[in-house]
Amino acid sequence: MKSYSIALIPGDGIGGDVTEAAWQVLVTVARHTGFTLTGTRFPWSCAFYKETGAMMPPDGIETLRRFDAILLGAVGWPAEVPDSVSLHGLLLPIRKAFVQYANIRPHRLLVGVDGPLRARNFDILCIRENTEGEYSGAGGRVHQGTADEVAVETSIFTRTGVERILRFGFERARARRGKLASVTKSNAQKYSMVFWDEITQKLSSEYPDVEVTSYHIDAMAARMVMAPDSLDVVVASNLFGDILTDLGAAIQGGLGFAASANINPDRTAPSMFEPVHGSAPDIADLRIANPIAAIWSGALMLEHLGETSAAQAIMGAIEKATARGIGTVPGKDKTEAITAAVLAALD
Ligand code: NAD
Ligand code: IPM
Ligand code: MN
Repeated sequence: MKSYSIALIPGDGIGGDVTEAAWQVLVTVARHTGFTLTGTRFPWSCAFYKETGAMMPPDGIETLRRFDAILLGAVGWPAEVPDSVSLHGLLLPIRKAFVQYANIRPHRLLVGVDGPLRARNFDILCIRENTEGEYSGAGGRVHQGTADEVAVETSIFTRTGVERILRFGFERARARRGKLASVTKSNAQKYSMVFWDEITQKLSSEYPDVEVTSYHIDAMAARMVMAPDSLDVVVASNLFGDILTDLGAAIQGGLGFAASANINPDRTAPSMFEPVHGSAPDIADLRIANPIAAIWSGALMLEHLGETSAAQAIMGAIEKATARGIGTVPGKDKTEAITAAVLAALD
């Protein structure tokens, strides 16, 4: 029997609830399908930071490297630990260390979910560059606290980094409906974004079967609201992709539905699966977090591991639950009830 070892990092706030929900569904589908999932839980979080002074132990990355995949809930508890500390101490280093350069975020309406838009028939795959760009962490502050203070945050775009994410996007577009939207802001940002546009152009000759269009980020934000059904694969830089995928979550009914996969396409290290949303401190104690985004992320994990029919079974079960109106209205159903409905639909 095939067996996979999974590192579970529930993290902060609703991260714990939604990761447990996803794990229950994953273990159940594995049993039905005939493979084993072994989970090892790591308590790395803001609470862990308060106890130990670090978000994960010094050998955290090496510990995670041994697993087949990582399932993460959410990181961040800004009331007690600054986000700049918690995210740069756990989530972002994992993405970088494991070269999870492709962050895949699907946006479509599940059966039974009413999004805020009139358009219902959209199916967008956002592919976000996940290791460099605006998240490079290069910069600094001088004359801190004075009237002359200057803060610099440098975006670093490398040819290797831009080419590989665009190539990944072209390949996905080729396997889907053959349309690629490349997102920049090259009318205002004349170095990195012009560079990105040039590489898009260069690669397009290798993919004559893919229809590629370049959009400015502002126009793309409007398009995702006004004409989401005109889009197929959307490739964007780290920050632009971050913003567009919360927008994508909104048009698919909310953050509780938006799944995400941080993929190392070369499989030289584990990939990580997590919902798009954060720790949601505003509802953290209410047990009303929608676990669907995390469960869907679990399905993306199984797909990555090659367990395609199990992944499809999860998606089918989610939509059986949402078709009955379970989990479709924010705050109406408890996390546990939504999870139970998905589990029941698996049987
Ligand atoms: P958030 O995504 O946590 O919450 C935004 C809004 O969406 C809130 O009103 C929240 O209640 C709601 N929401 C989010 N997930 C939900 C779910 N599953 N079900 C129902 N409602 C849901 O964003 P934020 O408030 O900006 O961030 C809170 C913390 O999480 C911060 O520390 C932030 O840095 C962190 N964060 C972490 C990740 C991650 O670990 N991947 C992602 C985003 C934000
Ligand atoms: C996400 C999150 C993270 C990001 C934050 C918490 C650093 O918003 O996964 O979308 O910007 O990548
Ligand atoms: Mn985000």
